[in-house]
Amino acid sequence: MTDKLWGGRFTQKAAAWVDQFGASITFDQVMAQEDIEGSLAHVKMLGHTGILSQAEADQITSGLHALEQDLAAGKLHFTVADEDIHLNLEHMLTDKIGSVAGKLHTARSRNDQVATDLHLWLKHRLPEVLAAITNLQTVLLTQAETHAGTIMPGYTHLQHAQPITYGHYLLAYFSMLQRDYERFEFNQKHTDLLPLGSAALAGTTFPIDREFVAHELDFADLYHNSLDAVSDRDFALEFLSNAAILMQHLSRLAEELILWSSYEFNYIELADNFATGSSIMPQKKNPDFAELVRGKTGRAYGNLMQLLTVMKAIPLAYNKDMQEDKESVFDTYTTIMGSLDIFSGMMASLTVHEKRMAAATTNDFSNATELADYLAAKGIPFRQAHAIVGELVLQGIKTQTPLQEMSLETLQAANPAIEADVYAELSSEAAVNRRTSLGGTAVINVQAEVVRGKKILADR
Ligand code: ARG
Repeated sequence: MTDKLWGGRFTQKAAAWVDQFGASITFDQVMAQEDIEGSLAHVKMLGHTGILSQAEADQITSGLHALEQDLAAGKLHFTVADEDIHLNLEHMLTDKIGSVAGKLHTARSRNDQVATDLHLWLKHRLPEVLAAITNLQTVLLTQAETHAGTIMPGYTHLQHAQPITYGHYLLAYFSMLQRDYERFEFNQKHTDLLPLGSAALAGTTFPIDREFVAHELDFADLYHNSLDAVSDRDFALEFLSNAAILMQHLSRLAEELILWSSYEFNYIELADNFATGSSIMPQKKNPDFAELVRGKTGRAYGNLMQLLTVMKAIPLAYNKDMQEDKESVFDTYTTIMGSLDIFSGMMASLTVHEKRMAAATTNDFSNATELADYLAAKGIPFRQAHAIVGELVLQGIKTQTPLQEMSLETLQAANPAIEADVYAELSSEAAVNRRTSLGGTAVINVQAEVVRGKKILADR
């Protein structure tokens, strides 16, 4: 027998470096609180069902409470020799209350224990993720309200396409974050399942009460198959997948902020708090935080691929491969919380160069569709109208004359159906405000969408 908690059938002690390789305590210690909570619920159930005497259950409970206090006070010192958080805490419990601590593991395995810890850990944090998304959505909504009428170029292929408003643009991100919110909200359903009581893989011979434990730990439901309970990491994969999509959204927004704060665009200026200077070039104001979020998207994608790959082809039930499930989840949580907070601060504090944005829509022929629509409304087939306007644009590029500055004679030479009322339709404001189709960029639409968005947030 060796000195491991599982050392009964072993005669040779593992080398320290082998222990080090097999250990997870360096990272799974962040689940210490959850591990203690799970043990408290488990031992309460063992007492309640009479599997342990009430006196034994009470002794273990007070030992666990003492550990909880030590943990909060930063007094627990974990060791690689005890492999993981479960064995470290069990060892510490034994040091506190003696051999009765050994009864805590009755009708339990580390397999259902670790799964329970990870479920609990994520279950505790998903509301924080939801709150952080709501926070960013609130910022976007407030800015969209302020900028419901702020004209800017809308792009496709990064080429000027049609004028839109900055408010409309922000609401696109509001919508993406709404879907992110709903995905993480759904993530709660599969996280809110209790594995504990499945033991190693097949259930237990003891007369346990899993519903009691589920109630104690506030789980909405429990796993109904013990093999699935100890092998399932879908809830973690869903989290990583949701996070990867969220980061994709933030990364796209980041990319635009980076472009727009460049000298060439100059549409926005980030607040000093969300930019950095250069150690050599005194004039620099770099959008480091937007870049960092864009960069951290790689980490979130990588974490998803990491766990998908770990879980691929693992035979039922628990295999040690699954110890590799945690770091990605912890790292992704830190990444998305930081990124959401940075974006909430950054979006609320940036300065919008409204005049510059609007001016960028005046000489760029982004009202060409307006003229084509105008002709189509006069009965000219749209394809023909498109060609007529295309030729005018070509002429305008040569003579450096935007459509709205061409004389009526020039326009009529292109097509006699054009009358003086055309000019009213060629301004960016007109282009925006005529787009009242559902989901379109018209100012009244944006204002109505802000109201709808506020209602969504108020109903949470
Ligand atoms: N540290 C392990 C993990 O994170 C705990 C479960 C160990 N179970 C086992 N049968 N070795 O997965």
